[in-house]
Amino acid sequence: MTEPGTPAPHVVVLFGANGDLAKRMIYPALARLGAAGRLPAAYAVVGTGRHDVDDYAGVISESIADSTDGENTDLAERATFQTSDADDGADLAKAVQEAEQKVAAEAGVDVDDVRRLVYLSVPPGSMTDIVAMLGREGITDRARLVVEKPFGLDLETSRELDAALKDVVHEDEVFRVDHFLGKEAVQNVLALRFANRLFGTLWHRDHVESVHIDVPETLELEGRGSFYETVGCLRDMVTTHLSQILGFVALDPPADLTAEAVRDAKAAVFQALRPFSKEHAVFGQFDGYRDDDDVDDDSEVETLVALTAYVDNERWRDVPFHLRTGKAMADDRRTVTVRFREPEPALFGSTGDGGHPHELVLDLSDDAKVAVEVRGKRPGPELEVAPATLTLDYADDFPDDDPLAAYERILLDVFHGDQLLFARADEVDRLWQVGQPLLEDPPQTQTYEPGSWGPTPPWEHTA
Ligand code: BG6
Repeated sequence: MTEPGTPAPHVVVLFGANGDLAKRMIYPALARLGAAGRLPAAYAVVGTGRHDVDDYAGVISESIADSTDGENTDLAERATFQTSDADDGADLAKAVQEAEQKVAAEAGVDVDDVRRLVYLSVPPGSMTDIVAMLGREGITDRARLVVEKPFGLDLETSRELDAALKDVVHEDEVFRVDHFLGKEAVQNVLALRFANRLFGTLWHRDHVESVHIDVPETLELEGRGSFYETVGCLRDMVTTHLSQILGFVALDPPADLTAEAVRDAKAAVFQALRPFSKEHAVFGQFDGYRDDDDVDDDSEVETLVALTAYVDNERWRDVPFHLRTGKAMADDRRTVTVRFREPEPALFGSTGDGGHPHELVLDLSDDAKVAVEVRGKRPGPELEVAPATLTLDYADDFPDDDPLAAYERILLDVFHGDQLLFARADEVDRLWQVGQPLLEDPPQTQTYEPGSWGPTPPWEHTA
């Protein structure tokens, strides 16, 4: 992860500049980085997309209005817009060069010392052709390319995208965003495991009974009906966010904390991840999904997935990893629960206090917490145990520290060229292989009531 310091002068080229992700995440993150003095001293933003934007500076100002606590940021003034498409990027190339000259003059450096950060916030179907255009127009010179998941729509299209990327830039310059890895609490998984002997030594099938990665969401489609029709929950959340969390939770100790070593360790987990199977998976679709204007009346697309995954290696063999996520569910949660086996010998009985599990719960939400559910002696004359919780609450325990939102972390690391929190080509390829059996032969989608917990997950069927 990035050391503090000011990044080199940059031109940020943003595809999808008038899109939802840019407005909700990218501009606010850039503004907050700017207000905290973390952006390059000299930079420019060239927004682009197929359709012209009337008042681009206004779009940016509106998106960042609530993000910087009144701190001044000149993001909107540094931005220009230029249309482009996959067939024609000549005007965009010109706009990038012009912006680059201005930045070089401001920074007092040679144009060749200005870096380019090209952010592709575009649908998976458009990505490959845009990447080829960037290469043809020379926009990839001195560039880092940031791509948003899903990376392709299946193994084949993901390999096409990867080939297109490798045609124009080296893997060291490709930043595949999985913003869950930008969450402070996910990075804390590494800290807890490797800075504390307490947890590190227990991180093994001899001591761990199961792992739950649970990401229910209450939100529904939020205008993303056509995205969901093409992508579905398995690709949107499971082969991406939830699998990446699993990778961090399950990895063997890396040789060190460099991007290469950590990603090697994570890639090894994915190699050992058993392809997902229909027998261990449940797909759901919330009632009302098909009423969306952009959704097919007979759509079978899944908005909820619950599945059990297995990592077939020495550390995790036969330990179930239960993954669940879905839209329009009863609650919003982002948790990892590591449930420990019962102690041996079981001096206090086989289930401690009568069923209360002994587990570590990592809350990955913005209000991050770590809770260790233990059994303590109940005060009083009897020698008996009762459930108790040891809690690390970030807001309370680090009151003076300023956490970075996921997209701030992501962008900051791209500016610095640090790939630790980004998915590598081999990881993505393997995750598509793991997901492919369910893409080709999915379980029957079951309807569930919005606001419910959805269909019974597979682990409860077999419990
Ligand atoms: C996005 C998915 O990547 O992550 C959304 O496309 C999902 O469907 C979102 O709602 C969840 O992110 P966060 O940061 O709110 O946990």
